[in-house]
Amino acid sequence: MRIGVITGGATAERAVAFAGAAQIVEALRGRGHSVCVVDTVTGLLSPADERSLLTSAVGREPPAVAELDERERAMLSNGLARLPEVTGAEVLFLCLHAGRGEGGTLQAVLDVIGVPYTRSGALASALAMDKDLSKRLFRAAGVPVPAWFMAPVAPEDVTTALGWPVIVKPSRMGSSVGMTLVRNAEALEAAVALARRYDVEVLAEQFIPGREVTVGVLGDVPLPVGEIIPKHELFDYECKYTPGMSEEIFPARLDTALARQLQELALAAHRALKLGGYSRVDFRLSPEDDIFCLEANTLPGMTRTSLLPQAARAAGIEFPELCERICRLAGNPGSARGG
Ligand SMILES: Nc1ncnc2c1ncn2[C@@H]1O[C@H](COP(=O)(O)OP(=O)(O)O)[C@@H](O)[C@H]1O
Ligand SMILES: [Mg+2]
Repeated sequence: MRIGVITGGATAERAVAFAGAAQIVEALRGRGHSVCVVDTVTGLLSPADERSLLTSAVGREPPAVAELDERERAMLSNGLARLPEVTGAEVLFLCLHAGRGEGGTLQAVLDVIGVPYTRSGALASALAMDKDLSKRLFRAAGVPVPAWFMAPVAPEDVTTALGWPVIVKPSRMGSSVGMTLVRNAEALEAAVALARRYDVEVLAEQFIPGREVTVGVLGDVPLPVGEIIPKHELFDYECKYTPGMSEEIFPARLDTALARQLQELALAAHRALKLGGYSRVDFRLSPEDDIFCLEANTLPGMTRTSLLPQAARAAGIEFPELCERICRLAGNPGSARGG
């Protein structure tokens, strides 16, 4: 197949996207596909660009990206449609996180250009990116979620309705960027201000103590549940991307009934947002084994050691096959023909 990997993005998760793209490109080329790589900021990558950009390690903190934004805008409005590597691809493999790449804007542009891309589509991507809207849809579909308020929120309301501590987070971000565990009223304002640096919409969410589990969905089938044991209290940016900073167990050592329930809820969450192709749904499991869904990721991390690839491996699907399957599930969900 002629595959274009679209990566980069003008977001704090740019380095994470490159790390995934490098491995997807290697896996797909290893399977004999013809693959080129396009950055939504700088355009088509030359072999030299690929070597320098795709091989750099993910730092301990997200990179600064403000100056990249304008260039991505130009690429999406005018650049992509002019690249034969994009228009002539049989499928575009999207490997970006947050921002326009995960939030539906890129998907809408590709719907207009008319090239199939690895799903979800524009609407589903936008819904999943918005933690406030996705939680409302999860709740309506019977998927339990932690209670939350949108900022501004009065400390008294936290005390009465949520209890301390709370997690303050930007609504449309990822990789735990801009997130704070707030233990008391005095710290609330600063946490909201920090989250606002990443999104005007900010959530204050009930903190769920206990364990962290994640369920991948591939082609409408839930994969084995994984448990994440981060070295920090939260699964933060450093724990996510520094080797050795979190332990990940696939399949999780859980009671069978509980694991099955998590898989069913993951599928329900995936369907509630009309996601397509594949996704990864994150949960907290309270000490009483009550399940709370945090979010669904339409473009989960895709290095070989990322959570979804680990879940696939636990189901007997090795990384190159996973990448191919994701390509086969691609479509043009926004087009009249469907995908
Ligand atoms: N309500 C919560 N209770 C406990 N931990 C949370 C809560 N919300 C977030 N976290 C912690 O922060 C991490 C990132 O939160 P998440 O909502 O998944 O946002 P992101 O899109 O940045 O991954 C979670 O994996 C979890 O460790
Ligand atoms: Mg998450």
